[in-house]
Amino acid sequence: ANKLALQGIKILISAGPTREPLDPVRYITNRSSGKMGYALAEAAVAAGAEVTLISGPVNLPSPMSVNLLKVETAQQMFDAVISQADNFAIYIGAAAVADYRPAEIQNHKIKKQHDDGVIALEKNPDIIATVASLPNKPFVVGFAAETDDLENYATTKLRSKNLDMIAANWVGQTEGGFDSDRNALQVYWSGGSQHLAMTDKKQLAQQLLSLIIERMHEKNPA
Ligand code: PMT
Repeated sequence: ANKLALQGIKILISAGPTREPLDPVRYITNRSSGKMGYALAEAAVAAGAEVTLISGPVNLPSPMSVNLLKVETAQQMFDAVISQADNFAIYIGAAAVADYRPAEIQNHKIKKQHDDGVIALEKNPDIIATVASLPNKPFVVGFAAETDDLENYATTKLRSKNLDMIAANWVGQTEGGFDSDRNALQVYWSGGSQHLAMTDKKQLAQQLLSLIIERMHEKNPA
């Protein structure tokens, strides 16, 4: 994306994992480092956008000139995103949101002798599908992290969540995906697809933004 490609455009990005507490000392989470979402926030600022970044718990410096909001659980991320999503032109869901949370959060540390080894879970709300169902919805870009059958799972998510675009990445390989500084993406939209080859996440973020701008213009010609 060139320097002014997103001048004045408001972009909302979610990044990182969510953390679902079991008790005051334990939680369920995943391997997302936040690097992909933070790289997108930085690239969007560099292209002139007004960026709000909703981040799960990560160990990354706050990007410059970004309105950063830190959350912990999927429900908190849902509330933060949904309360403002219709004020944005673009929403990019790069976060790895926990699909499930413990049904009950214990106030006291769970003790071995009282524990039956079973954790009851309940489903978290789907943030991106909810954004995509808003009457005044932004251009919605999802991610899909898969260990197999990438195209099939990603295009199914594109359709079932009513997304404008989905960026699919392999996870669990030696390079790319979670926590790595590098990544490769297979990007799908209704009627098209493009491969973005393995490179630094910062570089990849710029390429994905360029593709988003192209697709937005094709969808809504000026
Ligand atoms: O953070 P990094 O270490 O840099 O790693 C980057 C990444 C691998 C986390 C990122 O590139 C990525 O793929 N993010 C999405 C991972 C994921 O959990 O995908 P999913 O297939 O579970 O979800 C599909 C889409 O639905 C995603 O846009 C996700 O944000 C969204 N979702 C999922 C569940 C839920 N309850 N609400 C959601 O909005």
